[in-house]
Amino acid sequence: MSFVKVRDLLEMGKKNHACVLAFDAADVNMISSVIKGAEMANKPVMVMLYPGMRNILPFGVFAEVTRYYAERASVPVGLHLDHCSDFDMIMEAIHEGFPSVMADGSVLPLKENITFTRKVVEVAKNFDVDVEGELGHVGTAADSDEFSRKEFFTRPDEVKTFVEKTGVTSLAVSFGSAHGLYKSTPKLDIEHLKELDAATDIPLVLHGGTGIPDDQLSLAFSNGINKINIGTEFFNLNTRLNQEFFAQDFSNGDPFAFPEYIQPKLAEYIAKRLELSKIQL
Ligand code: 13P
Repeated sequence: MSFVKVRDLLEMGKKNHACVLAFDAADVNMISSVIKGAEMANKPVMVMLYPGMRNILPFGVFAEVTRYYAERASVPVGLHLDHCSDFDMIMEAIHEGFPSVMADGSVLPLKENITFTRKVVEVAKNFDVDVEGELGHVGTAADSDEFSRKEFFTRPDEVKTFVEKTGVTSLAVSFGSAHGLYKSTPKLDIEHLKELDAATDIPLVLHGGTGIPDDQLSLAFSNGINKINIGTEFFNLNTRLNQEFFAQDFSNGDPFAFPEYIQPKLAEYIAKRLELSKIQL
C-alpha cells in the first residue's frame, strides 16, 4: 500500500479494465483530503499538482507532504506533476521528488511533440520516473466547443509511432473531453477511443474529468482509459467551502476550526467520486 509508482497504479487499472482517479490539489487540506477520501472508499488514488502552483507550494513541499500522508495511508497513493510543457520545470520537479510527470507537447506539431517528449523520457528514465505524454489536444471547454471537433482528436495512426519513439509510460488522448466547465453536456466518442486503445498497450488517460456524465465515464473506463484527471470540480468545491466557512462570524477565532470544517467535506467528496473506480484492493 502507501506511496507507490504511478505505473503500478495504472497497471492495476489496466488489469482490471478499470480506472485510477487523479485529483489536482493546491494545499495541505486538499492533499490530505484526497488521501483520506481514498482510505474511506478503500480505493487507490493519485494526487497531482499543476506546475503553475509551485509559486504557492514549491514542488519539494508538495511532494514531501503527499509522500508523508501516502506512506501512512491504508491504500496505494501516487504522485504526479500535471500538464507541463517546460523542460526545465519538469527537471526541477523530478529533482524535487516527483516520481511521475506529464510532458505536454500537445500543442506542438507531431515531430516536435515527439522530440520534446522523448527528451523528457530520456532523462526521466534515469531516475525511474514515469512520463505521461499527450497526443492530439484536449482543449479548454470555456474557449469554444473545440472538444467536440475531430481535428483535435488523437489520431489512431499516430499513436503507435508516438509511443514507440518517445517511450512514454502513459498517454493522454483526445476523444471528446475538455478542461473546465462544459457549456453543454460533452459526448465522448467511445468508438474513437476503441481505435486508440487498439493502437497501443500502454494505459490511456482522460483529461477534463469534470462534468462528464458517469455512464460515459464507465464506458471510457471499460474501453482503455486507466486514469482520469479531475481538477475543476474539486477546486470549485474547495472555493465554495472556503466561502461558506469565511462567511461566518469570527469574533471567537478558533485556529482549528477551518481545517476541521473543510477537510471532512473534501474527503467525503473524494470518497463519493471514487465509487467510479472499479479497482478492488
Ligand atoms: P478538469 O478541470 O476539467 O476536471 O480537468 C482536469 C484535468 O484534466 C487536469 O489535467
